[in-house]
Amino acid sequence: MSQSDQKSAPGSAADLARLRSEALERLSSLTTAAEAADWERDYLGPKGAVKLFQRSLGTLPADERPAAGRAANELSKELSEAFEPIKARLDAEALEARLSEDAIDVTLPGRTPVVGGLHPITEMVDELIEIFAHMGFQAVFGPEVETAKYNFDLLNIPADHPARDVWDTIFIEAPNEEIVLRTHTSPMQARTMERIKPPVRVIVPGKTFRFEAQDASHEWQFTQLEGLAVDKHIRLSDLKGVLQEMARQLFGPERKVRFRCDFFPFVEPGVDFSVDCAICNGKGCRVCKGTGWLEMGGAGMVHPNVLRGVGYDPEEYTGFAFGLGIERIIMMKYGVDDIRGFQSNDLRFLRKFANISVA
Ligand code: FA5
Repeated sequence: MSQSDQKSAPGSAADLARLRSEALERLSSLTTAAEAADWERDYLGPKGAVKLFQRSLGTLPADERPAAGRAANELSKELSEAFEPIKARLDAEALEARLSEDAIDVTLPGRTPVVGGLHPITEMVDELIEIFAHMGFQAVFGPEVETAKYNFDLLNIPADHPARDVWDTIFIEAPNEEIVLRTHTSPMQARTMERIKPPVRVIVPGKTFRFEAQDASHEWQFTQLEGLAVDKHIRLSDLKGVLQEMARQLFGPERKVRFRCDFFPFVEPGVDFSVDCAICNGKGCRVCKGTGWLEMGGAGMVHPNVLRGVGYDPEEYTGFAFGLGIERIIMMKYGVDDIRGFQSNDLRFLRKFANISVA
């Protein structure tokens, strides 16, 4: 509160003149919006000097009151009019100062946002879906929790058959039926053929599970991609052509595919198939363990018992099937020497993949 507050009452003309000159002098020295707010409170506010003066008029003799009242009103008007433009200027200056403090420097280099990327397994599955789509295969997906009927029985692996032990199965406790975590994507062979009539051309990517100790090339949960084609006159050479084309697209035009006899109860004949090592061009290196070949999965001609089991006539239809290990393919393509990285959630591992956009 200014000195004038104390001196203004009782309201004589001299007090009013002193109040006026003091208010105008302070007004002319205002330099900030905050000072202007103080000035307004001290002189024009509800408890300001002018209001106090007006209230003190009651103490004057009655004949002096009208003139003093008019003078006070005029002073109030004069001070308001003098104050308004100064307040507007100081407010504008304050706003400008705040804006220039907050200003964005558009010449600064931008910050690159950290973007995630797809997991290498997802990338590889997508790549394979694309490759097989061009050869007429449709991607379908099946349950990860399976009945023994589809995981084994309909694949020509009856309950008492020793081949059942080959797949280190994780069983789920269930009261009425044998339930397993699927050990491979092959159960979808029977599920698909039960659903549709030939021609059949599907691939089935998905998670698979085995009760297996982990090491550099084995996981207890890994990913497979099944392929199945059934029609009239399908031959082993068709299988070879399809896998060769896949290998060429994945690893380059020079790649060769090798088939060797293998046994799977649901195919006859059965083969395992390898691609000549893209890293050493078949000469032998650390990744192919000196053999020049990289094994990719199992395959063969669909066993007549499997065709019969789903109601197909093996005299009329033949087919081929194959199953690839996705992690192993990525390992070959990128020279990864330990499969355990895929489930580790370790960004240092994920950043190694050229296609992955992890920042
Ligand atoms: C099978 O699982 C057959 N279902 C494949 C098949 C399908 C044969 C259709 C004939 C016709 P196998 O157990 O060999 O086969 O597994 C196929 C591929 O899965 C292997 O070549 C390997 O790449 C991958 N694989 C198998 N076990 C593991 C594991 N523990 N960790 C990582 N990859 C594995």
